[in-house]
Amino acid sequence: MSKSLLRNGYNKIHDRVKKLHKEFKIYRWNPDHPTNNKPFLQSYYVDLSNCGPMVLDALQKIKGEDDSSLSYRRSCREGICGSCAMNVDGTNTVACLKPIDVDTSKPTVLTPLPHMYVIKDLVVDLTNFYHQYRSIEPWLKTKRAPEEGIEYRQSPAERKKLDGLYECILCACCSTSCPSYWWNPEEFLGPAPLLHAFRWISDSRDGFTQERLQALTEDHKRLYRCRTIKNCAAACPKSLNPADAIHKMKTKHMISQVVEKVGSM
Ligand code: SF4
Ligand code: SF4
Ligand code: FES
Repeated sequence: MSKSLLRNGYNKIHDRVKKLHKEFKIYRWNPDHPTNNKPFLQSYYVDLSNCGPMVLDALQKIKGEDDSSLSYRRSCREGICGSCAMNVDGTNTVACLKPIDVDTSKPTVLTPLPHMYVIKDLVVDLTNFYHQYRSIEPWLKTKRAPEEGIEYRQSPAERKKLDGLYECILCACCSTSCPSYWWNPEEFLGPAPLLHAFRWISDSRDGFTQERLQALTEDHKRLYRCRTIKNCAAACPKSLNPADAIHKMKTKHMISQVVEKVGSM
């Protein structure tokens, strides 16, 4: 066999093997070495022929086989817990629901959720986000006893009003893609807590609608800092629409104010 034939054969095999390897550039920062330790992107190569289809599968493979020091959150690996939220190639999403881009000619870049304090690598500090979620009192509050002293009933039509609201997994993809939240993370509640606020305001069993609206608008920035940019709806991996919920809540609040004014005339 001639040398050129051999070389062609070798190149073909080399290209095929190379094609199966995908580069992942992953944001790294370690708080244990803070001095002179700027964040950087570290490259890892994953053999896609031996890896699950989702970005989280690649991360698991990298951590298990290449680098156990890599940090990220995950739990359910099926889009239920919200913990694997991160930015994949410029878009916030949950890594377990995001298919790997199999085009091996370009890398996939993984960075933490934007505009958040980084604890380590892809892990961000969600303390403020959870405090804001808690502040909307995400539980049923009633003024009357349940029928027959057993349970609060809901008709199918009343229950249907909660569709598109209760499915939120608190991944924070929406809040961390919202420019208003980037600029006012303390004052503005952000789309996820506001979606949950509307979930309880829309619940026929809840007896504190007016009080909830009042609490949301005592400081106008909590609700009205939303500028209807709609990044939140574009980012949600569960296809929810916090912008729509916020808009409906603003309308409800404005109507209640008009009714109050007319009543006091
Ligand atoms: S619609 Fe409101 S909450 Fe959603 S991204 Fe825009 S400003 Fe943020
Ligand atoms: S609304 Fe969507 S993006 Fe926002 S926290 Fe809930 S599931 Fe995540
Ligand atoms: S691991 Fe639970 S949502 Fe991704």
